[in-house]
Amino acid sequence: MSKVTVNGIELAYEDVGTGHPVVLLHGYPLDRSMWSNQVAALKQTHRVITPDLRGHGESAIAAGAATMQQMASDVAGLLQALDISRATLGGLSMGGYVALAFYRLFQLRVRSLVLVDTRAQEDTEEAKTNRAIQAERALQQGMEFIAESMLPKLLTPESVTKKPELVRQVREMILRTTPQGAAAALQGMAQREDQTLYLSRIIAPTLIIVGQSDSLTPVEDAELMHRQIGGSRLEIIEGAAHLSNMEQPEEFNRVLTTFLHDLEG
Ligand code: MLT
Repeated sequence: MSKVTVNGIELAYEDVGTGHPVVLLHGYPLDRSMWSNQVAALKQTHRVITPDLRGHGESAIAAGAATMQQMASDVAGLLQALDISRATLGGLSMGGYVALAFYRLFQLRVRSLVLVDTRAQEDTEEAKTNRAIQAERALQQGMEFIAESMLPKLLTPESVTKKPELVRQVREMILRTTPQGAAAALQGMAQREDQTLYLSRIIAPTLIIVGQSDSLTPVEDAELMHRQIGGSRLEIIEGAAHLSNMEQPEEFNRVLTTFLHDLEG
């Protein structure tokens, strides 16, 4: 693990392998370790960079909302520090919101996009209210209830009963996140703008991946992005809910490496 100071805060990241750079952004309230299966598979052929977004993992927290633009600017600073001018940018859920924000801000630095279990729509008013309640509760009571309420949505019922090691890994990741980091991300996600109308302006080759049983960012959200982003590819992963890369790593890695291989010709 390495650290770099970007936008006044210390960001933790891993940077392994050589080849075309691929940056993978984790979801909320998780950290870079969620990509361990992808790092292991891709590092043979690519340079893989996995940051902990601000307020998550081993990265620092700053006061106020962690907006998607702020996190995108952190990623841009990290890439600059690593002397990477252009990369494939992938993100799961909140990481996907950050990837879309990054594309809007720094389009020329994106070689291709990988949008995983994510969506382009802004929050409904109900979702915003719910985020405020969750943030308050996390600050008052800690992360345990967030782990308990999110786990059944992140994984399929089958994974929850049959994959205790995966459940443990996800739970520990959530419990490692500080309430302050979670609250800042919740506030930031609630402030995101709708990106639906922007999707048709994306010209980077784009891969969209979604778990067939994802209830947080369902298949319809992925299909909407697929319809709007010209030439995009949509892959639906069976036997997976929201954390498709962790639940079905082999199939996930197959679709990801096929996309990267086709891109690189
Ligand atoms: C995530 O997995 O990053 C979150 O579920 C996204 C969200 O709450 O919108």
